[in-house]
Amino acid sequence: MSGDFQRHGLARGLTDYGDRGFALYLRRSFAKSMGYSDSALARPVVGIANSASGFNNCHRHFPEMLDAVKRGVLAAGGLPIEFPTISLGEVFLHPTSLKYRNLMSMDTEELVRAQPIDAAVLMGGCDKTVPAQLMGAASAGVPAIQLVAGPMMTGRHERDRLGACTDCRRFWARYRAGTIDDDQIAAIENRLATTAGTCAVMGTASTMACIAETLGMTLPGTAAIPAVHADRLRAAEATGEAAVRLAAGGPTPDRIISKGSVENALRVLLALGGSTNAIIHLTAVAGRLGIPLDLEDLNRLSDTTPVLVNLKPVGSGYMEDFFAAGGMSAVLGELRPLLNLDCITVTGETLGQRLDAEKDAWVDRDVIASADDPLEPEGGLIALFGNLAPRGAILKRSAADRNLFEKKARAVVFSSLKDLSERIDRPDLDVRPDDALVLQNAGPRSESCMPEAGYLPIPKRLAEAGVNDMIRVSDARMSGTAYGTIILHVTPEAAIGGPLSLVRTGDFIRLSVAERRIDLLVDDAELESRRRQADATAHAVRPRRGYSKLYADTVLQADEGCDFDFLKG
Ligand code: FES
Repeated sequence: MSGDFQRHGLARGLTDYGDRGFALYLRRSFAKSMGYSDSALARPVVGIANSASGFNNCHRHFPEMLDAVKRGVLAAGGLPIEFPTISLGEVFLHPTSLKYRNLMSMDTEELVRAQPIDAAVLMGGCDKTVPAQLMGAASAGVPAIQLVAGPMMTGRHERDRLGACTDCRRFWARYRAGTIDDDQIAAIENRLATTAGTCAVMGTASTMACIAETLGMTLPGTAAIPAVHADRLRAAEATGEAAVRLAAGGPTPDRIISKGSVENALRVLLALGGSTNAIIHLTAVAGRLGIPLDLEDLNRLSDTTPVLVNLKPVGSGYMEDFFAAGGMSAVLGELRPLLNLDCITVTGETLGQRLDAEKDAWVDRDVIASADDPLEPEGGLIALFGNLAPRGAILKRSAADRNLFEKKARAVVFSSLKDLSERIDRPDLDVRPDDALVLQNAGPRSESCMPEAGYLPIPKRLAEAGVNDMIRVSDARMSGTAYGTIILHVTPEAAIGGPLSLVRTGDFIRLSVAERRIDLLVDDAELESRRRQADATAHAVRPRRGYSKLYADTVLQADEGCDFDFLKG
């Protein structure tokens, strides 16, 4: 065996017995117990991180995709070896999948680094799995390429086209308002999510898939291919082939994920009117490589990035329409003058070279607008600052009611999710349509670990009267498939004594989208008095053992991506 061989393939990172020859001999012997030949074991090893799980409906087609990846690896001369990682099925986790994103990132990082892998294929898709794998790959420092699940197809209910999960919320709101009955909601439940793949709208999963492609971590044009489309299997095969090229000395994630590509990803997020969650995830991915993502930068880019994509929850289309309309190639092509074109991608070419090759592609302007005639002249997301959110809060203005953009509203406060669920529908709740609903203690350090609870339900009495939007303020997150005038990620959070914890029912809150401000209209002396009387961290959880303790001891606030402090680059 050559010395070179001993640093690659199966000979990478040998088990430490103090005798390299013995370690390699033993490893090869055990590998041969699985039936591998000498010629197979001499190939570069492509490790395939497979996040399929019985608790993850979005990944149920991964066995077929995995076969296609392996086909591509073998055809290109590599040895494909699959290994399982943690999977995070969005709706199957308590209290919320965000709590476990960092655990999956650590699992991915450690297994990619510890096992003899020359290049990794990261198979993810559901909301937290894509950022977790990107975070892990960024930290592992091994060449890696991501392959996403792709979106679900839509279903039908009578004349309505249905796609998880914007339509899940739309029909649930109607059910709460009493305009559809038990039988109808039961029928809709059967028709919302009918194929493999991630949610069918521009929610968090699809936003993160588009961001992964923009960062350069997937093959071009693969983010939006529907999960059940034959092109997805062809993309899987091509991803396997690309991984073999990466194994021969391709760029590592720290060369691909750069300040320039992160800024490109922010531009794309804004042009998509994408998920608010993506800000937290992109901050965490960039943070692994020491790249700061400042919310003031988000506002600067938002002022100069048009909204181009007409998809739910902001517009009317679904991800299958986006794919057919031209997908990410069309969006990146329109944004071209605003992008850093010299960023390198996982194929080794630059973003500019990619776009040169795609410049004559057809685009459906009903779904993807041109930059000259955008849906909105400014980006879909903004950061707000003020005495209620000194370190920032997020508003998805493209999904909000413009009539509420400049408003002073009376606060109706709920001190926790439990308090919210107990009181929101009580007939005697003192709440009016022009109030602001405020939820405290739903941030990263709270018992619920920053769930997607920022989409506070409209109180039943008001919903029945036809109210469908109100200002809502919290330190929680919101599903990428939700919509409304919802101010999220208020930082610092209430559970560690942030100003949000000092709001009382009857206070007034002022929102100004024009000024990018969210303020509590209570004087400083009164706030100081409340602060002195309160047990500032009464709602912060202090688990005594296990992963929950690690999480509570080290999780950072939303403006730092909710990563663990010791994982940042
Ligand atoms: Fe997996 Fe929506 S539940 S992407």
